[in-house]
Amino acid sequence: MTDSRGDRAKIEIAFTVNGEPYKVNVYPMERLLDVLRMELGLTGAKEGCGEGECGSCSVLMDGALVNSCLVPVLQAAGTTLITIEGLAAEDKLDFLQQAFLECGGAQCGICTPGMILAATHLLNSKPEPTMEEIGEGLSGNLCRCTGYSQILEAVAEAAHRRSTRTRAPA
Ligand code: FES
Ligand code: FES
Repeated sequence: MTDSRGDRAKIEIAFTVNGEPYKVNVYPMERLLDVLRMELGLTGAKEGCGEGECGSCSVLMDGALVNSCLVPVLQAAGTTLITIEGLAAEDKLDFLQQAFLECGGAQCGICTPGMILAATHLLNSKPEPTMEEIGEGLSGNLCRCTGYSQILEAVAEAAHRRSTRTRAPA
């Protein structure tokens, strides 16, 4: 007999989240978003549309940006995941989080974790993106509040600060 998730039995799945190893007993087709939020208590990833359209649930899976509402947890077995909770170091915000804070890139905050992870993904491959590239990099993430300009500015500012710091003499 199957349950509402279409699975017969729970299985044990192991993965690494924010540098910590986890083992969870879950139905294989449960959404990664639900497992992160309800099993691991990592509620930073948000459910917006639940259909892969808004990016609020974005996380990094083996370095790729994924919509965790569309990922069956089975697919995450053995992977390395980064959620918004994994960016700050103790009480020090990550450079993107700090720039979002200062530039007004976060208002209601529902889109913010996904936006910051999308920006992290972008800056990992393009450390000094143009505004057009920033727009493209965040095109899968929707925001109802900011009008986007503060978000784009925050990413540009974060990239600028990091590249300036990188170039600064020791
Ligand atoms: S909640 Fe996953 S893309 Fe919208
Ligand atoms: S800050 Fe509210 S949806 Fe983006």
